[in-house]
Formats: sequence, structure tokens, C-alpha cells
Amino acid sequence: MKGIILAGGEGSRLYPTSIIYSKQLTMIYDKPMIYYPLSVLMLVGIRDILIISNDETILFYEKLFKDGSQFGLSFSYSIQDKPRGLADAFLIGEKFISDDSVTMILGDNIFYGKLDFIRNAVKLNKGATVFGYYVKDPQRYGVIEFDENGKVISIEEKPKKPKSNFAIVGLYIYNNDVIEIAKKLKPSTRGELEITDINKEYLKLNKLKVELFGRGIAWLDTGTPQSLLEASTFIGAVEHRQDLKIACIEEVAYMMDFISRKELKELINKMPNCSYKSYLIKIFSNTHMHNRYQK
Ligand code: TTP
Repeated sequence: MKGIILAGGEGSRLYPTSIIYSKQLTMIYDKPMIYYPLSVLMLVGIRDILIISNDETILFYEKLFKDGSQFGLSFSYSIQDKPRGLADAFLIGEKFISDDSVTMILGDNIFYGKLDFIRNAVKLNKGATVFGYYVKDPQRYGVIEFDENGKVISIEEKPKKPKSNFAIVGLYIYNNDVIEIAKKLKPSTRGELEITDINKEYLKLNKLKVELFGRGIAWLDTGTPQSLLEASTFIGAVEHRQDLKIACIEEVAYMMDFISRKELKELINKMPNCSYKSYLIKIFSNTHMHNRYQK
């Protein structure tokens, strides 16, 4: 299973900051936003990851992650020269995906909670698996319509009159057919290749599985100044209370056994003195925490 993090886009809702800055590099509490979706891919066991962004920003991701081997990962980088839509990722990523299946996560989506069900979904996926989350403003998203037995009967992109409150979150698992499906797409009226059209095609073929997130999972989509503030406050509150970090990728790499104790030590030694380093020293010293991860 390959992983894609889609981290380009216009970021128009963050204007004027978006003139000079990429949304997915914004700090959410104590680390860049992209650490959060990256940690989700790592936690579900995906290690071969493509980051897609625009030509100005991709250099920053390369600086941040290099080839990924220091985290026991393998990173590739591709440029999306204009925001042609989420489904464009499968055209840009065709070579990278090759004949494998792929999980795509949006670079501005934060998930927090017990995510084991995503790991299972990755293992069990046959066609496409997407996830629904109850939201108060479904008209901003792809919306799922269910019949009385809970079977999915339609998906609509940003409907004016949503048929349910269940939005599709920015995490999509596909088999290799997604490449051919993406190639046949036509841009929508807003000029984008829509991921909803990919999901509709899988639905038509009877190969779409929709799983609903329970109430114990937080899904934060951080596209506006207000949602950035709320995400930072949320992450800060949980981290401060527990004295444990969310999406600390060095910790995740270590806990998932992607890197050894020695390699973690080497990463720590390269860091300047800061609370992030102190935290990792604590993780390194507390050997008994290492057993608490399920893999
Ligand atoms: P959006 O939040 O839909 O769009 P955006 O980030 O461009 O922001 P705005 O609506 O304020 O203009 O994008 C969701 C994610 O997908 C985000 O991480 C950006 C990314 N994206 C791309 O990388 N390429 C694209 O073509 C699009 C549409 C989005």
C-alpha cells in the first residue's frame, strides 16, 4: 500500500497569508500541519509516501523530510502546477502508485482518536473505502445519502441541500483501479477533477465501502483562520493535559519499529535544545512505553 499526502491547493481562505505561505506548513500548536496527516499514514503502517505540492513549496517539504529514511520511511515528491482538484493526485502519482493500491490523505486534515479501524480498512480494502463523519455544515463537503437500511445510495459534492449530515473526510483508500478511473474524469463546473466523481464511479460498480467515524474520533479540517486556531487549541489542550505529543513523527517511527533506539537517539542528538527534544528524550528513556503501541 502506497500513501499520498496532497498538500498543494490555493489556500484562498487563508488570504493574505497564502500569498507567501503554504497552509500545510502552518504551525498547529507545536509542529507543522503536515505532521498530523503524515502520522496517520505511519500509524496505519504506510511507509512509502508521495508528497504533492506546488513548485514553490515542494522544496520546503524536501528540506523537512529529505528522503524519509531517518524515520524509516521512503519519500517521493511531485509538483502539482495548479490546483486541478483532489483526483488529479492519482494522475500525478500514477508512476509512484505503479500497480499497488493507495491511501490518500489531505495535508490539512487532522484526525485524533483510536485509529485502529483505519488500519483494518487498509488491510481489508477491495475497491474503495471512504469514511463519513457527522458534521453540522455538510454542504462544504462530499455528502453521503443512505437508504433506510444504512446502504449508501448517493454521494454529492458540496450540495446546496445535503441529504444527510455525513461528510466524507479527507482520507481515501483505493485499489489500483483508481488510476484508470481518474484518467476518465472530466473537470466539474468549478474546473476541478473531483474525488467525489471517483467515489461515485466505485459506488456505481458496487465497490465502494463507507465506514462511519464514531463520536470518539476528532476530525478537524483546517482551512480557515478560525479552524486553525481551534485545531491549535485542541491539540495544545490534549498535549498539555497528558504530557504526550500528538503526531510527533520521530516518536511514531520509533513506536512503530520503523527505526531502532539507536536511530531515535541519533535524531534526538541532531535537534537543538527545545521542548520537542526534551519530549523525545523522555520517550527514549521510558522504555516501558514502547510496548504500548499496537502494530
Ligand atoms: P481545499 O481545502 O479544498 O482547498 P485549498 O487548500 O486550496 O483551500 P481554499 O479552499 O481555501 O482555497 O483542499 C483540500 C486539501 O487538498 C488541501 O490540503 C489542499 C489540497 N489540494 C491540492 O493539493 N490540490 C488541489 O488541486 C486541491 C483542490 C486541493
